Amino acid sequence: MATPKSAYSLSSRIKVKPPAYVFATCIIDSAQMYHNEREVGRAILRFLEAEKNKPNGVKREDIFFTSKLASNISYDATRRSIKESIRASGLGYIDLFLIHAPYGGKAKRLECWRAIEDAIADNEIRTGGVSNYGVKHLKELLASNPRIRPAVNQIEVHPFNTRSEITSFCQENGIVVQAYAPLARAYRMRHPTIVSLSQKYGCTPAQLMVRWSLQHGYVPLPKSVSKERIISNGQIEGFEISAEDMKTMDGLDEYLVTDWDPVDAP
Ligand SMILES: NC(=O)c1ccc[n+]([C@@H]2O[C@H](COP(=O)([O-])OP(=O)(O)OC[C@H]3O[C@@H](n4cnc5c(N)ncnc54)[C@H](OP(=O)(O)O)[C@@H]3O)[C@@H](O)[C@H]2O)c1
Repeated sequence: MATPKSAYSLSSRIKVKPPAYVFATCIIDSAQMYHNEREVGRAILRFLEAEKNKPNGVKREDIFFTSKLASNISYDATRRSIKESIRASGLGYIDLFLIHAPYGGKAKRLECWRAIEDAIADNEIRTGGVSNYGVKHLKELLASNPRIRPAVNQIEVHPFNTRSEITSFCQENGIVVQAYAPLARAYRMRHPTIVSLSQKYGCTPAQLMVRWSLQHGYVPLPKSVSKERIISNGQIEGFEISAEDMKTMDGLDEYLVTDWDPVDAP
């Protein structure tokens, strides 16, 4: 799987056209549960149509479209729902398909993973992964001797919830950590440490958090509905957070959960 340098989670809004350099790879993070695959797919297709006649226009292969399984019901239901996601999006295939959460127990998790493996074999999806998996779920999947190992675990990770046990396990096992809510949903933009470090590095609090994520080797998925913020959140090349300041930021961990927290599901 191509690991994007940084990612832009545009959800249902892809009216924005960031500059070409931002578009090295553009992750569009959708999910069956978000009920926006159709709208996101249409927006992407409209955008690609407008790019078609430009010399360096963005192509389908420059877009990394992710969707996620709403519910771990069965092998057949998963296969059907993947086909439905492809149909709804109109994009022909899905770049990354994730089991959205580890709910449903071991048997369902493994059954749904087998459906993802078969969907990859049938060229419906390019890459398979999981989301909100704790170490227990990842060990269970790896121990099941899968034909295809999960490429990605998409979990909430930011300085206020570092989830170091899960991220270490992923990195030791070659699983890319996609960090959702990398800006801690903007709940800690005025935290004194974030403010003082962003002043030190001459960046915004959001850029500091995106940079922290990238320096840890994660693929952050910052979301914004604002064109200016999407561009600004990606402008993180001009500085590097020192090892000492990375440690300071790691120390902000307070297990802040901004959404749901299925990582301990049985
Ligand atoms: N797998 C999962 O279970 C799961 C769960 C949650 C999220 N996700 C994915 O992760 C993506 C990001 O997560 P998230 O939206 O929860 O959190 P986030 O990206 O950490 O934060 C988004 C919030 O930050 C604000 N923001 C963005 N840039 C900013 C800036 N420069 N200055 C100040 N505020 C800024 C946004 O407001 P504006 O939009 O108004 O700019 C929005 O309120 C989602 O879109 C979704 O694709 C996945």
